[in-house]
Amino acid sequence: MNKIIGEPGSSRTTYQHENPDWVIKKPNTTSHRHKNLQEWKTWQLAVEKGIEELLVPCVKCAPDGDWLIMERAELLEDKRERPPKLPWMHDAGWKNWGVHNGRKKLLDYASSEIYKRLKQL
Ligand SMILES: Nc1ncnc2c1ncn2[C@@H]1O[C@H](COP(=O)(O)OP(=O)(O)O)[C@@H](O)[C@H]1O
Ligand SMILES: [Mg+2]
Repeated sequence: MNKIIGEPGSSRTTYQHENPDWVIKKPNTTSHRHKNLQEWKTWQLAVEKGIEELLVPCVKCAPDGDWLIMERAELLEDKRERPPKLPWMHDAGWKNWGVHNGRKKLLDYASSEIYKRLKQL
C-alpha cells in the first residue's frame, strides 16, 4: 500500500492514491466498511442539495465499501483555522477539515447524523 496520509482515523486509514490528486480510504476492519458507504451516500445527497462545494468530493466507492477514492485535500495545521459551523454539520472538529481548490471543505463526513440533517434541508 502507499503512504498513509494524516493519522489513521477510528474507522478508516487514508492512503495516497497513484493519482496524486486522489486519496484512498480503507476501512480498519471489515465492520467499518459502512463508513465508506455512508460517506459516498452523503456525497450524492450533497450534490442533490447543491452544497457539494463544502465537501471534498468523493470520486468512486467499492459497492461493498472496501475502498473509497476521494480527492486529496491539504490538512489544516492549526485548530484556529477551523471554519464557521453550519447547522447541518455534526461533530465536525477542525481535523475533519481540509483545503481543496483553495477552499475549506469537510474531508470526513461519514456520519449518519450529517446525512439526516442534510436530508432535511
Ligand atoms: N480527502 C482527504 N485528503 C487528505 N487527507 C485526508 C482526506 N480524507 C481523510 N484524510 C486524512 O485521513 C484521516 C482519516 O480519515 P477519516 O476520513 O477522518 O477517517 P475516519 O472516518 O476513521 O475518521 C483524516 O483525519 C485526515 O488526516
Ligand atoms: Mg476522521
